[in-house]
Amino acid sequence: MKYYITVPIYYVNAAPHIGHFYTTMVADALKRFKTMQGYEVMLATGSDEHGTNVERAAKAQGKAPEEYTTLIAKEFEDTWQKTGLAVDRFIRTSDPRHHETVRWLFERCKERGYVYKGSYTGQFCASCNLFVTDAKPGDNCPDCGRPTETITEENYFFKLSAFQDKLLELYEQQPDFMGPEIRRNEVIAFVKQGLNDLSITRTNITWGIPVPGEEKHVFYVWFDALITYMTAVKDLDLWPADLHLIGKEISRFHAIYWPAFLMAADLPLPKRVYAHGWLLFENDKMSKSRGNIVRATPIQEVIGVDALRYFLLREVPFGSDGSFSYDALVGRYNADLANGLGNLVSRTLSMIQQYRGGVIPAPEPGVGDEVAAKAAEVIATYKEGFEKFEFSKALEAVWSLIGAVDKFIVTQAPWTLVKKPDQQRTLDGTLYTAAEVVRLVTALVYPVMPESAAKIWNQLGMTDKLSAVREDSLAWGKLATGHTIGQTSAVFPRYDAKIVIPKMLDLEVAEKARQAALMGKKEEPAADAAPSNISPIADPIDIEAFGKVDLRVGKVLKADKVKGADKLLHLSVDIGEPEPRSIVAGIALAYQPDQLIGRKVVIVANLLPRKLRGLTSQGMIVAASLEGGSPVLASFLEDVPVGARLK
Ligand code: ME8
Ligand code: MG
Repeated sequence: MKYYITVPIYYVNAAPHIGHFYTTMVADALKRFKTMQGYEVMLATGSDEHGTNVERAAKAQGKAPEEYTTLIAKEFEDTWQKTGLAVDRFIRTSDPRHHETVRWLFERCKERGYVYKGSYTGQFCASCNLFVTDAKPGDNCPDCGRPTETITEENYFFKLSAFQDKLLELYEQQPDFMGPEIRRNEVIAFVKQGLNDLSITRTNITWGIPVPGEEKHVFYVWFDALITYMTAVKDLDLWPADLHLIGKEISRFHAIYWPAFLMAADLPLPKRVYAHGWLLFENDKMSKSRGNIVRATPIQEVIGVDALRYFLLREVPFGSDGSFSYDALVGRYNADLANGLGNLVSRTLSMIQQYRGGVIPAPEPGVGDEVAAKAAEVIATYKEGFEKFEFSKALEAVWSLIGAVDKFIVTQAPWTLVKKPDQQRTLDGTLYTAAEVVRLVTALVYPVMPESAAKIWNQLGMTDKLSAVREDSLAWGKLATGHTIGQTSAVFPRYDAKIVIPKMLDLEVAEKARQAALMGKKEEPAADAAPSNISPIADPIDIEAFGKVDLRVGKVLKADKVKGADKLLHLSVDIGEPEPRSIVAGIALAYQPDQLIGRKVVIVANLLPRKLRGLTSQGMIVAASLEGGSPVLASFLEDVPVGARLK
């Protein structure tokens, strides 16, 4: 029995954070659960390295895309390794074996008549890698809010429109294909609106997989990225995937485009796509572009990665958005792990040590029957929870068993039984019941907390490997008697939030700086450390005086270095007049000429012209800088027309 799970191949325009960790960790937990059921499980992820965004990110760091993507892809691979996630295959889209799969799939779609050549003009969002339908020039992307760009291209198109009915039939016949329900409904509604054909090649960029026989074209990133799911198992005959686990914002690509590509190529479809919600931090989606990021490794170093795994699976109902906070993390840890599970383990093992010389005693008929019945119920709920991706419910059930046995121990009062010679068999039965709960709970939490569970397993004196435990051991009474328990120590020591949170935050800052340095960025100054080189505020002026300064939005048409002046660039800037302005600016140390072409800038338009190095400068470009620092050009987040005045 084989089971193939994928998680997204992440963009390499920035380093990994706990959003990426979340999806990959859930897949790792599922893999461990499925393995327990007897499946041979394959887990694949990788890095999404092509496209405009990555090309720009590399350029901004002055690196070639190959060099840049190699660095970041390694960060992702290292993170999975460090945090103990059992990733079997890591596919980079730059891998030549992958290029081959993409071309093969393209040819198959083409041979079957689902690919044609056409020309297209539209508003493109480089951040989402999508043409925005019905958008006008100047509109922002409805998904991410960033400005779109007008792009006209001769492209290959995929006949997505031909798949509307087939897709609706798929969702109808396989209600499980897309989950949860809320995402399924969104996908169906989207398809019912009608599907436009999709342009699947690009000519405005070069950083991509070349299209066979077409020098100028590279494949559109999504007709590249999705196909890694096949590349990953090409040599294993494992396609189709059993499960694509993703974040909710990429449902459309996985549940509409991807099955359509596969239908066109006459290939089997994945069995299931499941989208979880977003992790929010400080009430906002954690994201690379927003910069409000939490990383997994600092948490791992201070309180262990299992604490984070447990927190994410227990606290966030899978499928919904959920908030991350360090306070809640440490709170859950102390309540459920240090007190709940940790306490049960140490109390049970120390009683066995004290009262029975460390040897697991025999069960006693009639003692602990109610606990055994509860355990059977909990095991069933737990399995159902995992099957339905309701991890929080599964864990809640396990903790209800911990609660039940805690109560049982108090009622039985082994510390009293031990003093009564005629109660020794009852004491045996009580200790056996507690130890059997520890065994079962440990096996059940293993997929969620592999490292800690393995420690408990050893302390209980189990000799088989926890990773080799199969479903048939998940039944009451399988704990063997007569063996001696192992060395005990606290698996979940209590932590003081006032001590561990600052430690995690310090490591987080250090990790952020390390990643920034790796990518060639200068470390951002901490928000509360006021820079000392701010120049004093100038003397006051009245509004009329300010009104005399005419600031305009301009667009850079040309940029050239100035011979013999290494600080100067000569720009040609369109500010909406019949002729572009010639502007000489002292920004050559901070900007490469090509970086500026097409960029919107702010120009002081009514300065008297002056001559610099024999060139006329008809205005000044507005830039910010600290004394001695390099200039940063003023720019706009939203699109704005050339010639607009700033007031
Ligand atoms: O979309 N909360 O890559 P990406 C929860 N390359 N999950 C989060 C998250 C958050 N705040 N932030 C990221 C891409 N994720 C494409 C995928 S697949 C063929 C191509 C997780 O780097 C979540 O799984 O933007 C989300 O879908 C994914 O990272 C997006 O990663
Ligand atoms: Mg994204």
